[in-house]
Amino acid sequence: MRLQGRIAAITGGALGIGRATARLFAAEGATVALGDVDVAGAEAVAKEIVAGGGRALAVGMDVGDAGQVRDFVDRVVSELGRLDVMFANAGIAHSAPFLEHPEAEWHRVLRVNLSGVFFCCQAAARQMVRQGGGRIIATASINGFRGVENLVGYNVAKAGVIELTKTLAVELAKHHIAVNAIAPAQIDTRLTRSLPEEARRRRVDRIPMGRFGDVDEVARAALFLASDDASYVTGHTLAVDGGYLAGGLWSR
Ligand SMILES: NC(=O)c1ccc[n+]([C@@H]2O[C@H](COP(=O)([O-])OP(=O)(O)OC[C@H]3O[C@@H](n4cnc5c(N)ncnc54)[C@H](O)[C@@H]3O)[C@@H](O)[C@H]2O)c1
Repeated sequence: MRLQGRIAAITGGALGIGRATARLFAAEGATVALGDVDVAGAEAVAKEIVAGGGRALAVGMDVGDAGQVRDFVDRVVSELGRLDVMFANAGIAHSAPFLEHPEAEWHRVLRVNLSGVFFCCQAAARQMVRQGGGRIIATASINGFRGVENLVGYNVAKAGVIELTKTLAVELAKHHIAVNAIAPAQIDTRLTRSLPEEARRRRVDRIPMGRFGDVDEVARAALFLASDDASYVTGHTLAVDGGYLAGGLWSR
């Protein structure tokens, strides 16, 4: 019960990494607020957590809209009393070669994956300053460290999240707010299941552990960063990547 009595907000909580983290945080004693554009999906996860004896709230919201993010945090605080953990996790991807990358998709990915994280961090941090502290976690990606082809908007947004994490950690430490990020590699979710089989195989070839990661393996890293176990950790991006970032060129 590493999060007993804590209130945690999770964006993108209806599916994938966010859903797995919501289940784990609830099992560890937290009350979870799931923010997602897929409100029916978020409600289903909340229902499942409540049926299992936990506490959960589902809220329809778009992280790319600063007003909706503020309303989300306000609702968490008015209904649940406070906000101890913000997991800014919602994200999307668009795959296209740079030379053909549509302008609209560049803006859409940056809006959700970078501005969305900024809005969630800011709304959460303002509340946490009033409370005297808290923990913020953002979902970056190994793509924030590497020039992975055909994902320029996604990669740039994730590199921005890594830098945002460092800057906010420095600015918010005096308010007892820790800010960290997670950089998953290939995790088996809707986001990666849509890839052609050949692309999935090539990606696994570049991971020393030789397999996709599971959502629960990311959720456990988020739990560490949300818990008191990480009391002296801030500004860090934790790779959950089967060794991908440790590697260079090799053949199997
Ligand atoms: N799956 C991977 O291999 C992988 C690797 C690295 C990073 N990530 C990152 O992990 C995070 C979660 O991805 P996932 O794999 O669980 O994806 P997913 O598609 O399974 O889930 C994403 C969730 O975010 C929600 N969402 C999308 N846009 C939103 C918005 N504007 N506002 C609120 N909610 C929104 C979706 O409805 C969905 O519930 C993303 O930030 C993604 O970039 C995933």
